Amino acid sequence: MTVRQLHLLGSPVLRQRAAPVAAVDDDVRRLVDDLFETMRAAKGVGLAANQVGVARRVAVVDVGEDDPPPLVLINPRIVHAGDVVEVAEEGCLSIPEIYGEVERPLQVTLEALDRDGRPYRLDVAGYKARAVQHEIDHLDGVLFLDHLSAVKRGLLLAKWKKSRKGQSGYLKEVTPEPAGEL
Ligand code: NI
Repeated sequence: MTVRQLHLLGSPVLRQRAAPVAAVDDDVRRLVDDLFETMRAAKGVGLAANQVGVARRVAVVDVGEDDPPPLVLINPRIVHAGDVVEVAEEGCLSIPEIYGEVERPLQVTLEALDRDGRPYRLDVAGYKARAVQHEIDHLDGVLFLDHLSAVKRGLLLAKWKKSRKGQSGYLKEVTPEPAGEL
């Protein structure tokens, strides 16, 4: 497994609609494994392939539960969304240190393929449902900023530009902290 470079806001691949996976082969499984590795190194709870520069419909979510295990989302789609919505703070590994309040359905039903290419259907709620919707957005070239009001988005973009001053390019190396340190 490899920790891949993260693509940050400004990288065109984040605005691409990712292509469906035709077959879950070794290449796709390697991508899944690398997404988990990169997400964990970056201390995230989800990561989409666009964020490592690959425009394919593959993402992972791990909100820290062992049961059910972390989610592999290949060609995922939301087939049902509940009527109840919730507003909560979101961030994104591709827009470090920028956070905004996003309204999303509290409960969704998703369909996807797992790491072995088997289709599954799952009801998710709460934080996990939020993470799943955030990652599927990525596969459509959508960022959490797009859900905010124009005013709020403008403020956050100005903050982002300020934080990026003097830095060039849109790639970030993820350097995992050594384990076992206090
Ligand atoms: Ni994100």
